[in-house]
Amino acid sequence: MADSGHNDAFVEFERVQKSYDGESLVVKDLNLTMPKGEFLTMLGPSGSGKTTCLMMLAGFETATHGDIRLDGVSINNIPPHKRGIGMVFQNYALFPHMTVAENLSFPLEVRKLGKSEREAKVKRALEMVQMGAFGGRRPAQLSGGQQQRIALARALVFEAELVLMDEPLGALDKQLREHMQFEIKRIADNLGITVVYVTHDQTEALTMSDRVAVFNDGRIQQLAPPDQLYEEPQNSFVAQFIGENNTLEGVVQEIRGDVCTVRLDDGEVIDAKPVNVTKAGERTRVSIRPERVEYNKDRLQEGAHTLKAEVLEFIYMGDIFRTRLRVAGNDEFIIKTRNAPDQTRLTPGQQIEIGWLPADCRALDAS
Ligand SMILES: Nc1ncnc2c1ncn2[C@@H]1O[C@H](COP(=O)(O)OP(=O)(O)OP(=O)(O)O)[C@@H](O)[C@H]1O
Ligand SMILES: [Mg+2]
Repeated sequence: MADSGHNDAFVEFERVQKSYDGESLVVKDLNLTMPKGEFLTMLGPSGSGKTTCLMMLAGFETATHGDIRLDGVSINNIPPHKRGIGMVFQNYALFPHMTVAENLSFPLEVRKLGKSEREAKVKRALEMVQMGAFGGRRPAQLSGGQQQRIALARALVFEAELVLMDEPLGALDKQLREHMQFEIKRIADNLGITVVYVTHDQTEALTMSDRVAVFNDGRIQQLAPPDQLYEEPQNSFVAQFIGENNTLEGVVQEIRGDVCTVRLDDGEVIDAKPVNVTKAGERTRVSIRPERVEYNKDRLQEGAHTLKAEVLEFIYMGDIFRTRLRVAGNDEFIIKTRNAPDQTRLTPGQQIEIGWLPADCRALDAS
């Protein structure tokens, strides 16, 4: 970790707040430090402040409070053309009267590059997004996905060190989106650029990012690498927002080190890991991932707690079985099991016992 300290803070938000109307804050307290070369995704529901943060970083909006720094320099002190920021907007806007090649050449003309250098860079950028043959067309003559690729190429063409992308793949069908996710990641890695990416698609966030910042209500709820975000959510919002999640509600009875007992609302008492609870008597939402629940007695690990459950629905999905249960009064309790040769298939109406390790069962806030 003990680097020069320089690259560790390429992009910094420090206690940033933003209000558009002078009254309500849409960004409440944003703190974020990104090293050079990182691919960071801002993920969150509509209206949570993602685009606002990107606009402040790009310099199209000013922060109401706090400081944003780029390579150690406060962004207010850097003229826009010296920021070296490429941007793909949420509603990608190519200049309609220009050809694709002219669209890409424009940011280079602004930076006063010569004609032959411009042509070489435009050609390379078009090849990067596999649009080499489309330089002469106008945006109206392209499909939505092709326009989006050109917008991406335009953000990359002047070799920006920092590229901001706001839902760049929102308009694409699933197959093209997945292809472009891979392409963007590959291009970013090859060029070594730093990317701030915005999406509300959690799969996209998990597969593309070095770290994900989960936004809600103008705040970062958790900032972590994808595996940590999924396996160790720090609060109920993140547990619910990322991946599939089961919740059981109850009251904390006792906290002892890294184990707590929770009395569920139906009276059952279980062990859990106290993550976002502080004292006995507090209401809690206990969170368990569907793939961490076991119903096969032989497969239950030592120390696993068991609960009675009724099978409500069994869905065969090929590689996995997805079964819906009633557990402690919750009819939406989902378990997922791998379709292994020795795995039993459950049938609706069956009474079973399920179990999990207390460490996989996280006691979070009840809010
Ligand atoms: N120019 C503006 N003037 C006033 N309010 C704005 C402006 N832009 C955004 N807002 C408000 O600020 C809040 C955050 O908006 P923002 O665009 O940052 O959300 P977002 O997370 O990008 O959402 P989405 O996923 O829908 O794009 C919203 O409540 C929005 O209505
Ligand atoms: Mg937005």
